[in-house]
Amino acid sequence: MLLPFFRRHVRTHHLDIGVGTGYSLAKSDLPNDTAITLRDLSPSSLEAARLRIGRAGARTIKHDVMTPFPGAKCFYSISLFYLLHCLPGPLEAKGSIFGNLKHSLRPDGVLFGATILSCEAGHNAFGRKLMSLYNSKGIFGNRHDTQAGFEAFLRKHFGEVSLQREGCVLMFSASQSIDR
Ligand SMILES: C[S@@+](CC[C@H](N)C(=O)[O-])C[C@H]1O[C@@H](n2cnc3c(N)ncnc32)[C@H](O)[C@@H]1O
Repeated sequence: MLLPFFRRHVRTHHLDIGVGTGYSLAKSDLPNDTAITLRDLSPSSLEAARLRIGRAGARTIKHDVMTPFPGAKCFYSISLFYLLHCLPGPLEAKGSIFGNLKHSLRPDGVLFGATILSCEAGHNAFGRKLMSLYNSKGIFGNRHDTQAGFEAFLRKHFGEVSLQREGCVLMFSASQSIDR
């Protein structure tokens, strides 16, 4: 479900934030002229993703997504894949990321992503154990992440919001940013 969703939204000038190993970009068969920027807190993730996607022109930027990044509205698409559930709460802090990133999107651009929701989403017993362990170790910070919460923050910053649920994973896309 995740890869087709990623492929559907990625465009020619793309910013991927929280790159991991670059899996989604590497598997998306992007046209050769796609301009890719990778942003992550971890230099080793940036390097792993850069090598995996194998694009000579790919830019890498070390940056904490929780802080604003100055720059022009230059990207046609921005992805946040499996990043938000790794960030510390509260949900308001994650919501402000949408407000920062809309300033990097072209007026016709799209912000999209996928994230694992809190236990409210109905994890099974194994999932609940894993959630508890990961949250206690700081690997996840999604104890308070709800679909309604994400939807409210997305709608605060974007005129067009679409949400899709697969089990405990929320996939979202947002466009037509609202300037305020
Ligand atoms: C689970 S991985 C994402 C995997 C990848 N996007 C995928 O879908 O396969 C989370 C990534 O987010 C990065 N990350 C964690 N906190 C971050 C932050 N505050 N700002 C930017 N990147 C962060 C980690 O270094 C890691 O590369």
